[in-house]
Amino acid sequence: MEIKNIAIIGSGLMGSGIAYVSAWNGYNVIVVDVDQAALERGMERLRSDVMTGIEKGKMSMSEAEGLMSRLKSTVKVEDAVKEADLVVEAVFENMEVKKKIFAQIDKAAPPRTILATNTSSLSIDELATATKRPEKVIGMHYFSPVASMKLLEVVVGKKTAEETVQTAFAVGKKQGKLPVKAKNSPGFIVNRILMPVLREAIFLYEKGVATKEEIDTALTTIGKFQAGPFTLGDFVGLDIAYNAMSTLYRELGDCFKPPETLKKLVDAGSLGMKSKKGFYAYGGAKSEPEKPKGADPQMLVNRITIPVIREAMILVDQGIATKADIDQAMKLGASFPVGPFEMADKIGLPKVKAEIQKLQKELGPCYSVPKMLG
Ligand SMILES: NC(=O)c1ccc[n+]([C@@H]2O[C@H](COP(=O)([O-])OP(=O)(O)OC[C@H]3O[C@@H](n4cnc5c(N)ncnc54)[C@H](O)[C@@H]3O)[C@@H](O)[C@H]2O)c1
Repeated sequence: MEIKNIAIIGSGLMGSGIAYVSAWNGYNVIVVDVDQAALERGMERLRSDVMTGIEKGKMSMSEAEGLMSRLKSTVKVEDAVKEADLVVEAVFENMEVKKKIFAQIDKAAPPRTILATNTSSLSIDELATATKRPEKVIGMHYFSPVASMKLLEVVVGKKTAEETVQTAFAVGKKQGKLPVKAKNSPGFIVNRILMPVLREAIFLYEKGVATKEEIDTALTTIGKFQAGPFTLGDFVGLDIAYNAMSTLYRELGDCFKPPETLKKLVDAGSLGMKSKKGFYAYGGAKSEPEKPKGADPQMLVNRITIPVIREAMILVDQGIATKADIDQAMKLGASFPVGPFEMADKIGLPKVKAEIQKLQKELGPCYSVPKMLG
C-alpha cells in the first residue's frame, strides 16, 4: 500500500523526531499533541533537527523549506487522522492512555489507515484489541535520537497482516532506516538482549568478582564495546534500565529479576548522569574507585557476553527474530561492536555450548542451553 500522509500522535522527543524523518523524506506529516504549548515545544525540537541538518550540510535551505511546507500540526486527533494512510502513535508509555487513543483513531481514520505505535515495551496484541482492525496494527519502534539512529524494530502482532508489515518496512526504508522484524514479545529484540549485559555485570560486581571499573574497562578494551555496562547504564538512565528489566521480569519470570543494587540506586534517586549520581558520580563530584580485585579481563568479557549470546539464541529458538536481524539490531540499536551471532561464530559454537553448560552447572536453570545448540 502506498503511503503519502502520515499522522503522528504526540510531539515529544520521539514524535517530533519521527515527524522530522518523515517530512524530510517526502511524506506529508500532521502532528498532534494535547495543546498548543506542547505542539510548540515539539515544533521547536523539530526546527532544531532541521538546523542541525543545514549546519551539517545534509540539507539546503530550499530543502529545509520543502520539509517545513510538508508539516502541519493540530490539537484535534480526529482532524489529523481523517486523511492519514499511516498513524504513528508516540504518547506516554502507558497502556490505558495508548488504548484510549487507538480506539479514538480507529473510529476517525479511514478503513485503509495503518495504526502504528512507537511503544518500547507494551504488547502490540493488547493494543490491537482497542481497535476493529488488528490486521492493520503494528509496532514501529524507533530509537533516540530518531534523526540519527538507523534502527527501526518493526513489531508484528499475532493478527498483523503481511501487507501491513511490508508497508511499515517500506516507510522505514524511505525514512532512511534499516528495519528489522520482531514478533511481539517482551523487550522485542534490543531491550531483551541488552538487559543481560547490565544484569550480569551487576551480579559480578555484587559477588565481589570485580569492581565496576574493572568490568567497564574489560568490556571496552578486550570486548571492544563503545561503553562498559555501568557507564552505559548511567548514560541511559538507571530508572529506564530498571523499568525495562522490570517489564521483562513481569512477563518472562524470575530469571529476569532486576538486581538489588540497581533497585537500591533507583529508590535513592541515583538515576545516572541526569541526576549526577548513579554507579559513578558526575558533575564535579568524584567517584572513589574501588581497590581492584585483579579479575581476568577476558573472563569478565566471556562471563557477560555468553549470557547475551544465549539470550539471542533463545529469541531465534522462539521464532521471535532471525539471526541476521538480531545482529543488525544489536549493532545499530545498542552499538554492539559485532552482533551476538557474529560473536558466537568467532568463539566457536562448541565452546559457546560448553561455557553455557558451565554457567548452568554453577548458577542453575536461568543459564540453560538454547535448543539451537542441541
Ligand atoms: N525516549 C526514548 O528514548 C524512546 C525510545 C523509543 C521509544 N520510546 C517510546 O515513545 C513513546 C513516546 O516517548 P517520548 O520519549 O517521546 O515521550 P515524551 O514525554 O517526550 O512525549 C510524549 C508526548 O505525547 C503527548 N501526549 C500525551 N497524551 C497525548 C494525547 N492524548 N494526544 C496527543 N498527544 C499526547 C505529550 O504531551 C508529549 O508531548 C513512548 O511510548 C516511549 O516508550 C521512547
